[in-house]
Amino acid sequence: MAAPKNQAAWLTKAGTPLEVGDAPLPTAGPGEIVIKNAAVAINPLDTHMQDVGVFVQQWPAIFGCEVAGVVHSTGPDVDRFRKGDRVIGHTVNLVSGRPQDGAYALYTVVPADKAAILPDHISFTDGVVVPFALEGAVCALSLKVPGVAMPGVSTPALALPYPSLQDPTPSIGKTIVIYGGSSSIGSMATQVATAAGIHVITVAGAHNFEFSKSCGAAQVFDHKDPSIVDKIIEAVTKSGNVFVGIFDAIASPDTYAHDLAIFAKLGGGHLACSHPPPADVPENVKAGMIFAVNDIATPVWKEFVTPALQAGKIKCLPPPLVVGKGLEYVQEGLKKCKAGVSATKLVVEL
Ligand SMILES: NC(=O)c1ccc[n+]([C@@H]2O[C@H](COP(=O)([O-])OP(=O)(O)OC[C@H]3O[C@@H](n4cnc5c(N)ncnc54)[C@H](OP(=O)(O)O)[C@@H]3O)[C@@H](O)[C@H]2O)c1
Repeated sequence: MAAPKNQAAWLTKAGTPLEVGDAPLPTAGPGEIVIKNAAVAINPLDTHMQDVGVFVQQWPAIFGCEVAGVVHSTGPDVDRFRKGDRVIGHTVNLVSGRPQDGAYALYTVVPADKAAILPDHISFTDGVVVPFALEGAVCALSLKVPGVAMPGVSTPALALPYPSLQDPTPSIGKTIVIYGGSSSIGSMATQVATAAGIHVITVAGAHNFEFSKSCGAAQVFDHKDPSIVDKIIEAVTKSGNVFVGIFDAIASPDTYAHDLAIFAKLGGGHLACSHPPPADVPENVKAGMIFAVNDIATPVWKEFVTPALQAGKIKCLPPPLVVGKGLEYVQEGLKKCKAGVSATKLVVEL
């Protein structure tokens, strides 16, 4: 039988549109699988990669962080997957720079430790919203020792426990505030923290209160509310738990000003940010920027993701908005992503 043909949405130069064309069919090395992609998702990071070439190590480039599809082949030392398995996977082009590790292709290499079986009742377009946000959430919550996010910027180290399959999850007596409860990474962090027994208070648009609560938030506050800082301080205090800190998934000057005002009243804590943290944080605030590719997530991928999806303990949220079918639609998805989304993830079916 003739080998299948691969195609990719190539970026040949920063600031130019993607070009769909032939690509070599990747092979799986040790600890890797090749996935025949059925759906890929689009993230804000991808728009920066296209615009300015940030993180691109090799031209022309194939980027994109997450895929859902069927295992096409497995490399040596892979025993959790077989050809034909339905899976989701977190792609690592961001760190490896290799084109075969980018999502925007018909076939992509994924480390087996960053993949999980997708239960039969979940579609590929739903499942593909999970991988990048899930690993980002674990990086935001569970690192024990600060690492390097980028030169001169350390990662946060909140050392919170991994999510558990226990239902209901027993409380561990800790409260976290998540700024951006309706964003992709903020809503997944809400689900993951809730599944770790943490009391979660989020900040989202008023139209997304119910959405954030469906991810596990105990209380949600409107980011446009002028008294939001006081309300969050009151809610954290009333929770009666130890205040862990804030995961700021929005990381803008406004949200940072609110974060620091909250810390000033609550005696400091951890500030995990999706971008470099503010300069000059007080000594009682341990601030860092998450970097969403880290082996800290391996036990979660191996032991938690599939049964959690099966049981509905982790839901495929925010829901996908399918932009179209075919690699040609990735460019359209990137354009829509730049325009901004609310409680949704842009997905391209293949
Ligand atoms: N460092 C890393 O490893 C890493 C990993 C993943 C993502 N990121 C970064 O994290 C950020 C979020 O990514 P994402 O994919 O989760 O974004 P997203 O889903 O595209 O974010 C959209 C959401 O942001 C919310 N939002 C906007 N302004 C807000 C504010 N002031 N307060 C609260 N919520 C606000 C909107 O809420 P409403 O519609 O409810 O108003 C909307 O639902 C991006 O900048 C991304 O580049 C970094």
